[in-house]
Amino acid sequence: AKDEKVFTADEVSQHNSLESLWVSYKGKVYDVTEFAQSHPGGAKNLLLAAGKDLAPFWGLYQQHSADHVQEILARYYIGKL
Ligand code: HEM
Repeated sequence: AKDEKVFTADEVSQHNSLESLWVSYKGKVYDVTEFAQSHPGGAKNLLLAAGKDLAPFWGLYQQHSADHVQEILARYYIGKL
């Protein structure tokens, strides 16, 4: 869409706590603050990636490439990087 929001990596990096937890992945930005408490891998693990790109973490925990995981992430989309 034309009026999609665009965020800088610096802006994303400021949302790095349980109060406001953003991540980026493949050029898209997600606000997963609400999801943190229900993450099957725990809020603490999710916090490791807070304000950052998911790729290195999901490279280590490859269960995230499953379709249902991608669908969950998509619900929290807020804009582009
Ligand atoms: C498991 C989502 C980030 C570590 C899962 C599962 C989902 C999920 C849906 C369950 C998968 C299944 O069993 O089929 C997400 C989302 C993330 C995220 C949406 C980012 C927004 C991370 C990060 C880490 C991580 C950054 C590690 C630093 C794990 C681990 C499990 C897991 C260890 C396995 C838990 C278990 O089965 O006991 N995640 N995850 N996740 N996640 Fe994540």
